Amino acid sequence: MCGIIGYWNQEKDACPIIIESLKKLEYRGYDSFGFAIVLNNKLSVERKTGKVSSTEYQNFPGVIGIGHTRWATHGKITENNAHPHRDCFMKIAVVHNGIIENYQEIKNQLSKKGHNFLSETDTEVIPHLIEENIRNGLDFKEAVMDVCPLLQGRNSFIALSSDQEMIAFRNGSPLILGVKKNNKIPEIFIASDIQGFLDETRDVIYLDDNQIAIIKENLEFYDINTKKRIEKRLIRLDIDLKEAEKGSYPHFMLKEIMEQKKALRRAINQDDKNLMHLAREINEAKGIFFIGCGTAAKVCHIAEYIFSKIANKHVNFVQASEFENYNHFLIPETLVIAISQSGETADVLESLEIAKKRKSKIISITNTKQSSLDKISDYTFFINAGIEKAVASTKATTSQLIVVLLLAYACAGRLEEGKRILIDLIGKVNDMLNPRYELHIKKLAEKIYQEENIFIIGRGINYPLSLESAIKIMEVSYIHAQGFAGGELKHGPIALIKKDSPVIVLMSNDESKKEIISNAIEVKSRGAYVIGVSPENNPIFDYWIKTPNVEAETSPIVNLIPIQLLAYYLGILKGCDVDYPRSLAKSVTVK
Ligand code: AGP
Repeated sequence: MCGIIGYWNQEKDACPIIIESLKKLEYRGYDSFGFAIVLNNKLSVERKTGKVSSTEYQNFPGVIGIGHTRWATHGKITENNAHPHRDCFMKIAVVHNGIIENYQEIKNQLSKKGHNFLSETDTEVIPHLIEENIRNGLDFKEAVMDVCPLLQGRNSFIALSSDQEMIAFRNGSPLILGVKKNNKIPEIFIASDIQGFLDETRDVIYLDDNQIAIIKENLEFYDINTKKRIEKRLIRLDIDLKEAEKGSYPHFMLKEIMEQKKALRRAINQDDKNLMHLAREINEAKGIFFIGCGTAAKVCHIAEYIFSKIANKHVNFVQASEFENYNHFLIPETLVIAISQSGETADVLESLEIAKKRKSKIISITNTKQSSLDKISDYTFFINAGIEKAVASTKATTSQLIVVLLLAYACAGRLEEGKRILIDLIGKVNDMLNPRYELHIKKLAEKIYQEENIFIIGRGINYPLSLESAIKIMEVSYIHAQGFAGGELKHGPIALIKKDSPVIVLMSNDESKKEIISNAIEVKSRGAYVIGVSPENNPIFDYWIKTPNVEAETSPIVNLIPIQLLAYYLGILKGCDVDYPRSLAKSVTVK
């Protein structure tokens, strides 16, 4: 949540570079933005509500600055609450990502000392704390270093002084430095994601928790706990820039849906030895928990069914935000498998910190190298889906499913066979993602986009998939959608079904076929418009979306893809900002 950027150089104007970065980081939060530029010992600040890509702002001269694109947590969406926030003398500007859990306490203490607060945010305490330390005789570096340990929660920030000194602190949310050395004096970027500077450089330094980077004449790093200087390694990233661009597609979401053809192939390309080794660990573990949030949680839920079907193994699925109710079960022999596209989701990371304390083993499945999740895990599977920019996860979801399936096949001692099954499935996905198929789904969207509610039902492995389908439709089109286990409908929700209510029936070639058709008949009898998503047609369907005939355990991948397309077209027809749905952010780094 929230994108932050710092830029330091000695000749180029910082403002346009910061604005470009903010546009790239917009997917992290886009309700307001702001920046501060320093010139001649004066900080100039601009703050606006709205998206940086579609709002007017004024430019300031100066070669050093910081910027922020906000996802509001504390305080309404107003210019006053937009970052940067400043101290009483307007000499220190701060951009921040996270939640300062004890900010109210700090704010009260500072107010008693005469500090004047202008916003409702938690962030504003940071510049005032720094100011207070400077008033007490510390220099900027010492002042910032003293503030860092006072902030409870997961917090990363960049502070800029009117003396042209910039300090970045990381604790919990990522901060990465980009270093561009075209001449002797480097250009330095600090961003919450490499996308903030990927156009400029791929030479990066990852800041770890409780470390600060100081940029004045030189670039220096310190450990906050020891207050000692540390050395950091420069890494050259191997990333294709095209991944971060829409290319000829109108939206990232559509591009990423289409990219599944290639992404799934990359996901399958895992190291067999590691798969077998970790499969042994899964088979020997005492208690296995799959944890994740949102769509990744639904993948975890589907994993329960996949492991049951393929490996005859019971694994537990828990939403990471609820994991504290289960963590007393964790022992050193327990295995926690975390799934997260970004690798930065706060609820997942906090759960894993507890698992770590209890000495349980952690395996993760993520798209993001060097993410906090990667760092905390004993072993990481990278899905290699490529950059996923649209807030709605598509190619990362199906790629995560591929890795879960590989693990389950490995646990069952059927890895080679499993890989053949998956390669065959990917071929079918290739055939499926064609313009005619897309048009067929678009036509359905045209029929139902004005509905207020969409129901999705499924049995067995299609039940958790119905929940994921509902997330996709809701977040992109703002149509209320709800997934149900087919058998549960008559225990309450069927009361909502009336004439023409769209009900999507997810079906696979498995033992639950007959029963889900019975459930479809039940809703049809109450007037529902029944949409079948299945390998076979059925007279009960008013509209049929054909899916490839694949093994039931792999069917979530092929059944989900048409729903992703449907969600996309529903969003387009409703005039929604499909890549940046309201109130959402791609990476949820606060609890
Ligand atoms: C996906 O469509 C959602 N926007 C959201 O639920 C997402 O899956 C969730 O926030 C988890 O993100 P992660 O995979 O980066 O942990």
